Amino acid sequence: MGNNLSIVTISLLLLLAFTNAGQVFDVKSYGGQPDADITQALMKAWKAACAVVGSKVVISTGTYKLGSVTLLSPCKGAIEFNLQGTLHAPSDVASFNGKDFWVSFQRIDSLIVSGGGVFDGKGQMAWQKNNCGKKYNYKILPTNIRFDFVKNSIVHDIQSKDSKFFHINLLGCKNLQIQHVTITAPGDSPNTDGIHIGRSSNITITNANIGTGDDCISIGDGTQDVTTNQVTCGPGHGISVGSLGKYQNEQPVFGIRVIGGTLSSTKNGVRIKTWPSSPPGIASDMHFENIIMNNVANPIFIDQCTNQSPSKVKISNVSFKNIRGTSSTKEAVKLICSNSVPCQQVVVADTNLVYKGLGGSTTSTCVNVKPTFTGKQNPPTCTIKQY
Ligand SMILES: *[C@@H]1O[C@H](CO)[C@@H](O)[C@H](O)[C@H]1NC(C)=O
Ligand SMILES: *[C@@H]1O[C@H](CO)[C@@H](O)[C@H](O)[C@H]1NC(C)=O
Repeated sequence: MGNNLSIVTISLLLLLAFTNAGQVFDVKSYGGQPDADITQALMKAWKAACAVVGSKVVISTGTYKLGSVTLLSPCKGAIEFNLQGTLHAPSDVASFNGKDFWVSFQRIDSLIVSGGGVFDGKGQMAWQKNNCGKKYNYKILPTNIRFDFVKNSIVHDIQSKDSKFFHINLLGCKNLQIQHVTITAPGDSPNTDGIHIGRSSNITITNANIGTGDDCISIGDGTQDVTTNQVTCGPGHGISVGSLGKYQNEQPVFGIRVIGGTLSSTKNGVRIKTWPSSPPGIASDMHFENIIMNNVANPIFIDQCTNQSPSKVKISNVSFKNIRGTSSTKEAVKLICSNSVPCQQVVVADTNLVYKGLGGSTTSTCVNVKPTFTGKQNPPTCTIKQY
């Protein structure tokens, strides 16, 4: 009898555990209705979900208003943020009270962000104020989605639109995969970088489609082991490591792989950039391969300004392999390294970049670098200056 009872009790407990796992916390159950502001409802749903292992916060189809929110741990375990609808940020920067984000995920282990929905940053008003040359005192504009110290997580099938500033910003993240995200903003919208990665490690970005007014993907100091696979960029400024060397004591960047993908009508293709007169730093083990350029202004570009006091960021072990397509300028390959710390171990292999305009072919420039060229070379290999 006692045994039977305990079996029933255990079964009940197991059943409870199972129904709790994967439990859905729909913002509607917390008073969040379409066309209304769901800030409070979302905070309540998140808090409740965090108290349960393996829970899911759901925002179903519909359009919702959302103010600036911080979604943070402690959570009991894995948690999913499932956005199926469209979120609208406030248009007015003042309502962010100086916060540098709209939606911020902080210090979460095992987060999934998914659902196919849209984070619409409503940036138009903020960009206009930037552009009009009016005295505009908001030094800080909000990033659409921040991930700060998030680890072992996946962000997939979401859209970010018209951010006031960067679309997605990663800081101090580890083991994070970003898949099938779509990012859109007009080509002339200022500082609307697609994905910025800083001080993070083991990050993969796969099958992203990014059109913005600034960098498609930018990689800042202290970042290691980033792989991008089949990322489509344009319009915008292309894929960039840097700018590096703005501050003292920046941490090294290494282990960057940009594989496949297409850049169309961007200002740069793949670029490594340092600030002039920057303090010592290291950027190494960076590889770019099998990339298509369509009408790109600087398809292959190492940019260490040399006409001012030189950068002390040392760039080494870099390869550009099988990069092909069209360049909108004749100077398709620019490897301009610092005369204080010349670039080392730079390989350029199987390049085929054709000038998009009429008359003439593409050229290459090498300053303070002696690249190893292998395979087919169009433009023809550079003559080396100042080395
Ligand atoms: C990198 O992250 C993936 C998951 O995104 C994980 O499976 C892998 O073990 C991580 N690698 C290291 C070296 O931590
Ligand atoms: C250069 O990069 C290759 C490819 O990632 C890596 O295996 C190698 O260890 C790097 N070499 C140095 C000296 O950093």
